[in-house]
Amino acid sequence: MTQRRVGLWLIGALGGVCSTAVLGLSALSRKLTDTTSLVTASPLFDGVELDDFDTFVVGGHEIRKSSYVEAVRDLHQRSNVFSEAMIQACTPDLEKWTANVKPGTILGSGPTISKLADHPDVQRVATPREAVERIQADLRAFREANKLDQVVVANVTSTEPPKELSDAYTSIAKFRALLDTKDASIPASALYGWAALDLGISYINFTPSLGSSFPAAIQLAEERKASVSGKDGKTGETLMKTVLAPMFRHRNFKVLSWVGHNIFGNRDGVVLDDPVNKASKIQTKDQVVSSIVGYKPQTHVSIEYIQSLDDWKTAWNHIHYQGFLGTKMILQFIWQGCDSLLAAPLLLDIVRLTLLAQRRGESGVLKHLACFFKSPMGCDQHDFFEQMDMLAAYVAKVKG
Ligand SMILES: NC(=O)c1ccc[n+]([C@@H]2O[C@H](COP(=O)([O-])OP(=O)(O)OC[C@H]3O[C@@H](n4cnc5c(N)ncnc54)[C@H](O)[C@@H]3O)[C@@H](O)[C@H]2O)c1
Repeated sequence: MTQRRVGLWLIGALGGVCSTAVLGLSALSRKLTDTTSLVTASPLFDGVELDDFDTFVVGGHEIRKSSYVEAVRDLHQRSNVFSEAMIQACTPDLEKWTANVKPGTILGSGPTISKLADHPDVQRVATPREAVERIQADLRAFREANKLDQVVVANVTSTEPPKELSDAYTSIAKFRALLDTKDASIPASALYGWAALDLGISYINFTPSLGSSFPAAIQLAEERKASVSGKDGKTGETLMKTVLAPMFRHRNFKVLSWVGHNIFGNRDGVVLDDPVNKASKIQTKDQVVSSIVGYKPQTHVSIEYIQSLDDWKTAWNHIHYQGFLGTKMILQFIWQGCDSLLAAPLLLDIVRLTLLAQRRGESGVLKHLACFFKSPMGCDQHDFFEQMDMLAAYVAKVKG
């Protein structure tokens, strides 16, 4: 029997999260590292048929000129992560997969992201439809050239500005018509999503951008028997919020205010330094506390770009709450994590579960993946423990 081959197509392929995920895939398949921090490698998943790490072929779209070797070396030097020995051992995979990375589109990405685009062949297209067709041509070529049994697309590009949706986003027919409108300003994340879903390829949105989180795209996913999930990987500060807020609720404390300050210095931080792009991120980070405690304490979220920190993020949270006899108390925490190292395993988990879902004939929004996202699609539940129960219930169903 020939071994199953699956394709992972990454949008934002050479960014921090993707490069780390790709190095991780190679290191895992060469048994150079263990599976620590991969949820899908925990005992909950024993007996579930997930794709092994050595079955993956990587490709993707990018708007900057770079390579996987350059990207991981850069992270290694700036943020003191990975080892030189690991990079060297994985270099054959990194070089092979860099050859599968194609120039992407910046249509609808906004000025701050467009400034990053230094690849001479970035797609300059006249209409959104042309962008979709070129993305699809790249996806088909990847699938055929590598004889892939299944492909999944993950959007891990820089955070786009928020998008107000018109009526054109409500049905497949209306959105198709919008694709022919020159100045439609459809965000690139939505074009990538549409292109993938239309080919029956599932689409993961690891970012706060629009992606496929609009009715027409969800309808298309169902029609093409593919899935969508998102938005915005829950990796650090927000993960802590969704773990701690249930404690305040269960102990019947009253949360008066919750302030979160985030500082970090990677490329994501450069883009989030633009207040317009930052607004999308703050939206996904700020809603979780009220939704869990059931009322609206005063909240504040700040994100600041501090270049010297590189990929190391510090999040300081100050939670002011009221206990017995009106007494006010304080909980503070400081989270210090390396952003790409927190995000990459989560991305691989979501990828494996998305491939599994499609093999099982599941389509539309994958609600059981809520625990992986700050703003889970199709699910109002933000409590991390409730979300983990949803995932466990799904796994129990899979195991039959
Ligand atoms: N812990 C985390 O790092 C974390 C957690 C949750 C979500 N995210 C989100 O994941 C995304 C990526 O984060 P990162 O740290 O890897 O950022 P990054 O800037 O290192 O990577 C983003 C990549 O996307 C590329 N890109 C931008 N627009 C593109 C387009 N239209 N087509 C193709 N490529 C494009 C950029 O050139 C860059 O290489 C961000 O939106 C971030 O907010 C990250």
